[in-house]
Amino acid sequence: MVAHPDLKTSRITAQLSAAVKDLEHVTVHELSAAYPDRRVDAIREQELLRQHDTIVLQFPWHWYSVPGVLKEWMDQVLTYGFAYGAGGDALQGKRLQLVISTGAPESSYTPSGHNRFTMAELLRPLEVTAHLCGLDLAEPLILHSAYRVTPDELAAHAVRYRELISDVPAYAGH
Ligand SMILES: Cc1cc2nc3c(=O)[nH]c(=O)nc-3n(C[C@H](O)[C@H](O)[C@H](O)COP(=O)(O)O)c2cc1C
Repeated sequence: MVAHPDLKTSRITAQLSAAVKDLEHVTVHELSAAYPDRRVDAIREQELLRQHDTIVLQFPWHWYSVPGVLKEWMDQVLTYGFAYGAGGDALQGKRLQLVISTGAPESSYTPSGHNRFTMAELLRPLEVTAHLCGLDLAEPLILHSAYRVTPDELAAHAVRYRELISDVPAYAGH
């Protein structure tokens, strides 16, 4: 799942999603393209989630959180009875991989740094969301300093991302 408000303006997210697009067992689903008006088809999204063993959320870090388009998706798709609560076991045991880019450098995400908190701390809401939904949260793949990263560094990161995704087991059909 690629969640960027406007991929046409994206450097990092666009290149990373292009790097995994042709992988056989991967469905690249671009949220803003699918729902330009942000009216998410929750039934379709839930079906897509059911069909995949690993859910990759790929997004730029916006205001210490997910972009609005992804928050909208979470609000509408991760519903009671589907993702949590009575009968809400559709995501139990699936793997959640976060793939994030931030504008600020890694050194700023420290207690004494400009952003005061570590990424692990700031990711707590997603961590507990995964926990509530029974998702197994993998180590996030984070690219910092998005504005400064060189074409070579970005290409190397895209290769790491592709390898990470290639290692994910194919859909087991359950
Ligand atoms: C609305 C908005 C909010 C942002 N908030 C943050 C932030 O809180 N922390 C940070 O490190 N970078 C922040 N950034 C920088 C983005 O994370 C960065 O531009 C993005 O990862 C680059 O990916 P892209 O080329 O796919 O857009 C923000 C950018 C925008 C447009």
